[in-house]
Amino acid sequence: MRILFASSEAHPLIKTGGLADVCGSLPPALKRLRHDVRLILPAYPAARAAAGKTTPVAEIHLPGWDAPVRILEGLLPKTRVTLYLVDSPLHFDRAGDPYKASDGRDWQDNPLRFGLFARAIVKLALDQAGLDWKPQILHCNDWQTGLAPALLSQYPERPATVFTIHNLSYQGLFPAHVLEDLILPPEFWNLHGLEFHGQLSFIKGGLVFADRLTTVSPTYAREIQTAQFGQGLDGLLNARARDLQGILNGADYRHWDPARDKLIPARYDADHLEGKAACKQALQEALGLEPDPAIPLLGHVGRMVPQKGMDLILEACEPLLTSGQVQLAILGSGDRGLEARAQGLAARHAGRMGLRIGYDEALAHRIEAGADLFLMPSRFEPCGLNQIYSLRYGTIPVVRRTGGLADTVVDADALHLAEGTATGLVFDAPTAEALGEAIARGLALHAEPETWRGLMRRGMAMDFSWERSARAYQDLYRELISR
Ligand code: ADP
Ligand code: GLC
Repeated sequence: MRILFASSEAHPLIKTGGLADVCGSLPPALKRLRHDVRLILPAYPAARAAAGKTTPVAEIHLPGWDAPVRILEGLLPKTRVTLYLVDSPLHFDRAGDPYKASDGRDWQDNPLRFGLFARAIVKLALDQAGLDWKPQILHCNDWQTGLAPALLSQYPERPATVFTIHNLSYQGLFPAHVLEDLILPPEFWNLHGLEFHGQLSFIKGGLVFADRLTTVSPTYAREIQTAQFGQGLDGLLNARARDLQGILNGADYRHWDPARDKLIPARYDADHLEGKAACKQALQEALGLEPDPAIPLLGHVGRMVPQKGMDLILEACEPLLTSGQVQLAILGSGDRGLEARAQGLAARHAGRMGLRIGYDEALAHRIEAGADLFLMPSRFEPCGLNQIYSLRYGTIPVVRRTGGLADTVVDADALHLAEGTATGLVFDAPTAEALGEAIARGLALHAEPETWRGLMRRGMAMDFSWERSARAYQDLYRELISR
């Protein structure tokens, strides 16, 4: 099949979160199933640099924009996936984060930037860019690509469209006048189109107009049809329930496997765990923690936003740090208030808590490898990748029972321990108390070396490789094409 895969991020070109992990791994997995899958991204400077050699292959003219836009062709690094970069310097050639200026505020012209990106996607999807390649499927991801299915819906000769929701809380909402700024058809402006409470919603372009909707875990697919998780879109998602399914993300073990990870100080696997002890010692040194092989080391890596429950981590860990029961290693950045609270806790517990504010690929791997337990008390979590990585690294995940966390971790209660199916600690209430209790259960198990090693082994043996998910997408594409 010929598939055009559209996203604003793909590892290793540009990454702010799990979206990049998925969009850097699913296309190569589809390629391994012998599909002609091509990836299209904005030509951010980081993406251009990481892509290496690219060649201009087309110049397209887009409505509402005088300058021609170049399409650069290359390869997604270390894969055979063809890459198209949409090169419009005024929109994408700027330093730093793809969505925000250095002061932390969204770029003012985001609707124009991603409106232009969608128009470019549509040109390629309709084979109007002069590339002599017509996809049968356009697969879009998150709000940055949302307008593409909407615009495409106006062409009878279009490819089938799939829209994947990676996170319903990012919707791309902009003032009503953006409809005219982007010269969008006026008929889009209604409740059953792109309008959302008086604003223009990019994500609705995908949710309303794509032929099929997917999200990144079965549990999140059910949750977003409820008022509690639906972010105001549950009515629409209920109406489209028959076109919506959850396909669990995979893990890319080319990058996330302690047996071959070059970013960690020592390699290990389930039969050779000495390397993990070395990783723990190195992490303690790197973060200024007291050297102690025995003390349980808790880890967390993530965007510091309310979704991820950093406040719960700080509150639940304070007494454990005070009593000297644990060490804590945190890497993340985002909300300035949460960053400041984390800094406060770290200052009060120097030597026991190590904190790095920022984005650091290597340290993320080192925390996965060096920690004993990994904390993910998310309020909601469409899939979550770090807990899947933790399993492979023998780092026991402590997770809230929501979204993909519920679908990937099996609680170490008496029954699952007896069955030998337990892989982590799962709790329900989004409170520091509930997280604290789950950590306490984890610490009790950590004190029983044999049980603990059993848990580690079981998690390390789990297989979440992309092939299974890629086959599920393949089935969906086939069904759409054969309609
Ligand atoms: P989300 O997409 O909601 O951020 P996921 O768990 O799906 O959550 O994916 C997060 C990805 O981003 C993981 O690969 C994680 O290691 C990475 N990540 C998040 N924050 C940081 C950071 N501060 N430094 C390095 N990597 C990070
Ligand atoms: C989103 C979600 C996360 C998911 C990722 C990749 O950023 O927050 O749960 O794993 O997308 O699908």
